[in-house]
Amino acid sequence: METLSLIYYSPTGTTKKIVKEIGQNMGLELISENNIAENKTESIPKTSNNCLTIIGLPVYGGRIPITAIESLKKLQSNQSPVVIVVVYGNRDYDDSLLELKEIASNCGFKIVASAAFIGEHSFSSNEKPIAKNRPDKQDLEKCRDFARMITEKLKDIKDINMLSEPDIPGNYPYKERNQLPASIHPETDNDRCNQCGICVDSCPTNAITIQETVITNGELCTWCCACVNHCPEEARIFDNPTINAVKEKLFLNCSIRKEPIYFV
Ligand SMILES: Cc1cc2nc3c(=O)[nH]c(=O)nc-3n(C[C@H](O)[C@H](O)[C@H](O)COP(=O)(O)O)c2cc1C
Ligand code: SF4
Ligand code: SF4
Repeated sequence: METLSLIYYSPTGTTKKIVKEIGQNMGLELISENNIAENKTESIPKTSNNCLTIIGLPVYGGRIPITAIESLKKLQSNQSPVVIVVVYGNRDYDDSLLELKEIASNCGFKIVASAAFIGEHSFSSNEKPIAKNRPDKQDLEKCRDFARMITEKLKDIKDINMLSEPDIPGNYPYKERNQLPASIHPETDNDRCNQCGICVDSCPTNAITIQETVITNGELCTWCCACVNHCPEEARIFDNPTINAVKEKLFLNCSIRKEPIYFV
């Protein structure tokens, strides 16, 4: 193994941090890095057998984000090795890792290792923190441990067909996807908004346009919270009774720290 390719979908940045920390500790030359939440139109890089790919996705409703799947399915591999990682907000990763494994296998990848890490929940706030500031120092140390385990596993492999794939937890049929009502999405406080357009660029689904004011297409909104996180004026606000009830429930039920888990 000589080179490394990173592919992730990371609207609020935690998945990116984790994938990069694992990648930086693999001792391989980084040849491509692709945040498919940002590069909406860019094509996904080709893979080769001496290149290790790391794919990282956040968990949405116990599944992988539907908007990332289309891009991932374009990947083509001829049994090149892949590490698959999901990042969840301290509730649960449910069937997401199994779902990602199935997609990667269907693209022709050979699964070397997989892991579920924890990132600050997209709905977390200072008032109702959920996995606040994660990944933290301990999590990043675990990224490095995971990288060491992968390196160790790959060290003696001469033929990729000899590689044993790890067992990955999850259930079929996968957890049913939540239907997101189009009427619920972050709103814009026009008194604060200076129409800078940062939210437009940060939205992975092109749900935001600027006309007279900032307009959100609720049909396209996945509640990823990238616009809320990136707005420099704190003008994007996700303050809705349904969302507030979810935040409260997560805050109350998901406060006990969970730890990353690896399958190598
Ligand atoms: C719509 C939505 C659904 C989510 N569902 C879950 C979930 O089922 N379990 C969980 O633990 N975290 C869940 N999260 C939290 C994210 O998985 C977590 O915050 C992750 O770190 C976000 O990754 P990112 O920073 O790369 O965007 C959800 C977040 C969003 C926006
Ligand atoms: S990022 Fe914030 S300030 Fe900029 S256009 Fe969007 S809502 Fe307005
Ligand atoms: S409008 Fe919706 S999909 Fe777009 S960045 Fe904001 S929360 Fe995410």
